[in-house]
Amino acid sequence: MNDPNSRDNSLDQPSENHLYVISAGRFVGRFEDLYNNVGDPWNQSEDVIVNESRRLLTVEWCRKLAAKKVGGQRLRVVEFGCGFGFMTARLRDLGFNAWGVDISKTAISKARRTHRSNRFIIGNICDEQLLHRLKPDVIVMAEITWYILPELAAVLRNLQKEAQSRDQPLYLIHMLATYSPGEQGYGTEFFTTHDEILEYFQLKYLEAASFFRPSNSPTVNPSYGSFFVAELR
Ligand SMILES: C[S@@+](CC[C@H](N)C(=O)[O-])C[C@H]1O[C@@H](n2cnc3c(N)ncnc32)[C@H](O)[C@@H]1O
Repeated sequence: MNDPNSRDNSLDQPSENHLYVISAGRFVGRFEDLYNNVGDPWNQSEDVIVNESRRLLTVEWCRKLAAKKVGGQRLRVVEFGCGFGFMTARLRDLGFNAWGVDISKTAISKARRTHRSNRFIIGNICDEQLLHRLKPDVIVMAEITWYILPELAAVLRNLQKEAQSRDQPLYLIHMLATYSPGEQGYGTEFFTTHDEILEYFQLKYLEAASFFRPSNSPTVNPSYGSFFVAELR
C-alpha cells in the first residue's frame, strides 16, 4: 500500500494509484475509477504537495510573465491535469485569470466544490479546439505527462500551433517526477531524467531545474522533481 505521506512516486511500484493508471509497466488510464475509489490520489491535497517548491516557483513565474504581458489584461493561465485544482485555485486567488482542466469528471466536481469556482472544466489536453478556445498565455502541466506519452508529440505540436496564432508568446510551465536509474519501468523510451525531458521537449527554456524528493517510506523510492518554464513563439 502507498505511504500516505509520500507521492505515488515510482512508476513501477505497486500502489493504490498504480492499479488504476500505470500497472506492471503498462498504461491503464482509469482516472475516473481512481478518483471514485481513492480519496486523495497522488496525495495531491496534502500541504507538502500544495506548497512544494516547484509549485511556489510556478506562482513566481506567473508573476514575472504577468509583468511582461502587454495590453494590460490579466495573465490567462490554464492548468491541464489540474486534479483537485489546488494550483489553479491559488493562481486565481492571486488575481490571475486561471482555469483548470482535467479528464476526470469526479476530480473536476471536487475542484469546483472545494474552491467554490466554476473555472474548472472537464477536458482532455489533447483537444486542440479546447486549447484554442481557452486562449492561454501560460499552460501549466503538473505531473500529467507520464499519462499522455503516446499523445505528447501531438500535444506539443498543438501548443506550437497555438503559439504561432498569437501575437504574444505562449509559456509552458512543466513539472514531472523522475526516478533513480533503473527504477522507471514505463515510458523509458521517452525519457528517464530531467535532462532527457529537456532534450525531448526541445524548447526555449527560461528556467529549468530538478529537485531531489526524499522519501521516509521503505516502500516508496525517492524521486526527483523536474521543472521547466519555456517560451513558445
Ligand atoms: C498526477 S495527477 C496531477 C494532479 C495535479 N496536477 C497535481 O500535481 O497534484 C494527473 C492528473 O492528470 C489527469 N489527466 C490524465 N490524462 C489527462 C488528459 N489526457 N487530459 C487532461 N487531464 C488528464 C488525471 O485525471 C489526474 O488528475
